Amino acid sequence: MNTILYYFSGTGNSLVVARDLGTALGNTTLISIPRALQESAVGTADAVGIVFPVYAWGPPRIVVDFIASRKWHGLPYLFAVCTCGGFPGGTLPKVGRALCAQGGTLSAGFSIVMPGNYTAMYGAIAEAKQQKLFARSRTRIAEISELIKARCRRPAERSFFLVNWLTTGFLYKFGMPHFKTADAKFWVTDTCTHCGLCVKVCPRLNIDLKDGRPQWHGNCEQCMACLQWCPAEAIQFGPSTQKRKRYHHPSVKAKDLFVK
Ligand SMILES: Cc1cc2nc3c(=O)[nH]c(=O)nc-3n(C[C@H](O)[C@H](O)[C@H](O)COP(=O)(O)O)c2cc1C
Repeated sequence: MNTILYYFSGTGNSLVVARDLGTALGNTTLISIPRALQESAVGTADAVGIVFPVYAWGPPRIVVDFIASRKWHGLPYLFAVCTCGGFPGGTLPKVGRALCAQGGTLSAGFSIVMPGNYTAMYGAIAEAKQQKLFARSRTRIAEISELIKARCRRPAERSFFLVNWLTTGFLYKFGMPHFKTADAKFWVTDTCTHCGLCVKVCPRLNIDLKDGRPQWHGNCEQCMACLQWCPAEAIQFGPSTQKRKRYHHPSVKAKDLFVK
């Protein structure tokens, strides 16, 4: 039995979950969603999964675009795993509906809590707390992999329906369209070394260098990869990020996320 895992990750949490899940399932091919977006067909396998982070109580725009870019019918077992900082809302049912619109049926959907990475609002949690979450996530991945191996079919995990209505149904719906151009709030300090790493980690290829400094072009995911991976911590978002601790998963390197 073989599995294909499509993943999107800005700071490595979802990549590590995809890797660990792939190891637990065995015979798994990992495919990056930013790269897969450049192809058209879904690969066939006994099981196909999508692993991604939760953004504003919903799926990232790149995941929505990826799902909409192909047909998902005829797959024997289709599942989704979202990573979140604590509260996924109705993300997984929303992904289920997006797959359904493209002919697919979501067999199961799971959420895993990982360290939050939205530096626009908060800094990284302490390393000891991160390690506790990683340990918990490994236990959870082991449980999820058993359910997937058993081809368990059940409703996607979700929060309480009234809360989902407020978060995914309202805040996500009206907030997500603004993410694309919110990159106007990125700015760069004089510590920028012109290394160009921000260009390489951007999943939307939305950044280039002008006179050695990054410029954003209005097609942003808000994944924070540019800010989090900047070796000089030169990239800022809005007025409050300069003093906030950066985050990326310690087992992931920036080059693991390069699109090209
Ligand atoms: C723009 C943005 C919005 C986020 N919104 C949520 C959210 O609504 N609920 C939540 O629990 N975590 C939220 N998070 C935290 C991420 O889902 C979480 O840290 C995730 O594991 C990051 O995965 P990655 O390292 O693969 O990018 C958000 C992060 C970002 C960057």
